[in-house]
Amino acid sequence: MPSLSNQEPSSSPSADRPVRVALLGFGTVGSGTYRMVKDNQEEIARKTGLAMEIVKIGIKDETKKRSLPSSLFTTDLDELVVSDEIDVVVELIGGEEPAAGLVEKALLAKKHVVTANKELIAKHGSRLITLAKDSGLDLHFEAAVGGGIPVVQPLKHQLAGNDVIKMMGILNGTTNYILTQMATHGADFADALAEAQQKGYAEADPTNDVDGIDTMYKTAILAAITFGKQVPLEQIHREGIRKVSYADIHAAQMLGYVIKLLGIVEETKEGVIMVRVHPALIPQTHQLASVNDVYNAIWLKGDFVGDLMFSGRGAGADPTASAVVGDLIDVARNIKMQGSGSAIPYGQDMPTSPIEELESRYYLRLTVEDTAGTLGQIATAFGRREVGLAAMEMRTKVGGLGEIVFLTHVCRELDFVQAIGEVGRLGCIVSVNNWLRVEG
Ligand code: HSE
Repeated sequence: MPSLSNQEPSSSPSADRPVRVALLGFGTVGSGTYRMVKDNQEEIARKTGLAMEIVKIGIKDETKKRSLPSSLFTTDLDELVVSDEIDVVVELIGGEEPAAGLVEKALLAKKHVVTANKELIAKHGSRLITLAKDSGLDLHFEAAVGGGIPVVQPLKHQLAGNDVIKMMGILNGTTNYILTQMATHGADFADALAEAQQKGYAEADPTNDVDGIDTMYKTAILAAITFGKQVPLEQIHREGIRKVSYADIHAAQMLGYVIKLLGIVEETKEGVIMVRVHPALIPQTHQLASVNDVYNAIWLKGDFVGDLMFSGRGAGADPTASAVVGDLIDVARNIKMQGSGSAIPYGQDMPTSPIEELESRYYLRLTVEDTAGTLGQIATAFGRREVGLAAMEMRTKVGGLGEIVFLTHVCRELDFVQAIGEVGRLGCIVSVNNWLRVEG
């Protein structure tokens, strides 16, 4: 594998000299990006005024069989990101390290950076964007949220004049696929997960997806671009979909709702936001309700733009490459115009409200003893905590039991949780099966 040390001296990209790109990582997205830059080279040159070439690919395992010439690959990523041969580094390794160290090194060596790494930006966005901005470099990350859906750039630019009142996203294809399968086939979580794993949609260790970690990173990024400050991840309330059963999905359907894993951002008071990730009921008529299978979508309400929704493929080689190459085109244009695309506010420590302060409607599913007075006792317990009941479905079960599903009016989360505690202690309650927030 040739070394990078004997390179031609650096010059600026020009009509005679392409923008020289290095990829870090050559998995699904890396190979998609390579293919797109090659297949669409004329399109890219026409739109940027500069040719673009992927001149080196940094990999971990040089023994893997690849269809491209071995001279294109290097395992020395530390040398690659500072090489004079490179103008732009595209980080597609994922995860926190070594990605963060390599991106920092690349920026210090005056390389523009494009990344698809949500964890990197959610944790280190403020520091790295400041570093890029201070050096007049680009650091773009469109592919980190929503895969092929263009949402980061519109939030940074076209929508920046809006006061965003609320944003809700279906940001994880794996969990959306699992919930769609559960709803369509009456499957329970474990079976739908096993099927998603078999089809390659879910990983062998599905934690990042099903426990909402992936959605949390993406939601944190959306919040930071929209409100100009990085959100501390420990201040994001996070629940995954493991607790959602088919019984919940069916009960929600009966009441006119679907259940989706949502990343939600809203301003709770001037300059303070609440960021949360959890499964929630949304009305079947809401735009997000029809986003199924592996599709992603981001819905928002802006004070001037009104309701808006972006939807599309949130993962996969081609859609993600589309976002990466879009960022590369931005970099090439900025190189040509001598501008920088990182001049966005991205400070630190966004003030946030805790989940206990949420005011929401709630769904609750109980198994009860089907005897006279049961409903009255439950309604009284809720009433004591100022929780109003808005809708109810009741079904008689075998063995003298019943299942009751409630929807509440808007109330404080703290009051609702305390009310459930009281309801759970009533003698007529067999089990509190589940409760979820209701959005839309
Ligand atoms: N695991 C992610 C998903 C991939 O399921 O959406 C894209 O970030």
